[in-house]
Amino acid sequence: MTDQAKISPFAAPKGVPDYVPPTSATFQHVRDMFTETARTFGFQHIELPVFEETGLFARGVGESTDVVSKEMYTFADRGGRSVTLRPEGTAGVMRAVIEHNLDRGQLPVKLVYAGPFFRYERPQAGRYRQLQQVGVEAIGVDDPALDAEVIALADACYRKAGLSGYRLELTSLGDSTCRPEYRAKLQEFLFKLPLDEETRKRAEINPLRVLDDKREEVKKMTADAPLMLDHLSDECRAHFDTVTGLLDDMGVDYVINPRLVRGLDYYTKTCFEFVHDGLGAQSGIGGGGRYDGLMAQLGGQELSGIGFGLGIDRVLLAMQAEGIDIEGRPRVDVFGVPMGAEAKSAMSLLIHELRAAGMSADMSFGDRGLKGAMKGADRSGARLALVLGDSELANGTVVVKNLATREQHDIARADAPAFIKRALADNN
Ligand code: HAM
Repeated sequence: MTDQAKISPFAAPKGVPDYVPPTSATFQHVRDMFTETARTFGFQHIELPVFEETGLFARGVGESTDVVSKEMYTFADRGGRSVTLRPEGTAGVMRAVIEHNLDRGQLPVKLVYAGPFFRYERPQAGRYRQLQQVGVEAIGVDDPALDAEVIALADACYRKAGLSGYRLELTSLGDSTCRPEYRAKLQEFLFKLPLDEETRKRAEINPLRVLDDKREEVKKMTADAPLMLDHLSDECRAHFDTVTGLLDDMGVDYVINPRLVRGLDYYTKTCFEFVHDGLGAQSGIGGGGRYDGLMAQLGGQELSGIGFGLGIDRVLLAMQAEGIDIEGRPRVDVFGVPMGAEAKSAMSLLIHELRAAGMSADMSFGDRGLKGAMKGADRSGARLALVLGDSELANGTVVVKNLATREQHDIARADAPAFIKRALADNN
């Protein structure tokens, strides 16, 4: 912390993490790796607004969810419209797909996005008010092979991040034919139990959520509750069996958790969550599922969809818990150390030339002595330092120093860019 930061009255808002160097390099690396992996699965990038009309989330995510009823950052803009900072990505993607007629072209529409989302939750380790996700949505085809593909993609992302201490939990939530019947059956069961007032209310609004209650006494009471998986329609059963069969064939491990409940209302059929064991209470590193009624609910065609959101913040915590470190990437390859004002101008030009030739380069600024400037070179992670002082200027040369071996060469200024490029290539 600098002295200035100590006396500043400002801090980041409560529950909002900053990612500063060197952690920000890991953040960027993980996020980019996830979006790039999605690209190799045929997903195209979509960039969406960070705020939307409030009604989109109320209607898309569901009024009865905590996300909509308690956690939204909603405010009136200066024109008096109610807008909300996006708490999740799926509703906005569906809105954009309908608005831009993407669903009238080749199906499925496969989209990937990354960015911040906002939920007014009680902050704690791994639970933030600004959270970062990479998400994908595959819209327009109700094909269990697509469910398996999307799940395999999420799994591939975690593996590429080096994670192994997680499990995939999977279930089916049925559809509009079998779920209402099951819901009534579950409610009948729950209403017979001596539930407290709040849990009873939950049983009325969203009975499935009672099955996810973490309290021992409630768990005991609901141990024999009817489960959706035992009440699937033939079509939903076949869909689920195909998904699990494909995951088996692809070697993607999973456990079936018939009590899995997600915090958003739009899910149908396949529903999943990736849970990491090293994270304590906030163990969900990603989740998703199928949402067959969502598009019609938002005024679009009757088209199905499936997607997921990976929580980047929690993936970073999980990597830390597993001792995975990818922070050692160098900031630049070459670092310039000029001695004196004239040398600084000459160095600026040389660095400019190196950058134009595709090399990553930085230099020392201000009036640091040789020792301080060389420290800067070491800290930058550069492989080569370039030293330029009065004698080099007079001779028309530059010193190229290998920072690992400390070996150095005096090179004619005109030959320097080519020499440096070769030295970096040899050093790879
Ligand atoms: P979600 O489960 O609400 O799903 O969020 C996805 C992931 O975001 C979670 O598994 C978790 O890793 C991370 N996350 C959520 N809330 C927080 C928080 N407060 N702090 C830190 N990380 C958090 C969705 O948002 C769906 N839109 C995913 C989806 C896409 N389903 C279908 N398509």
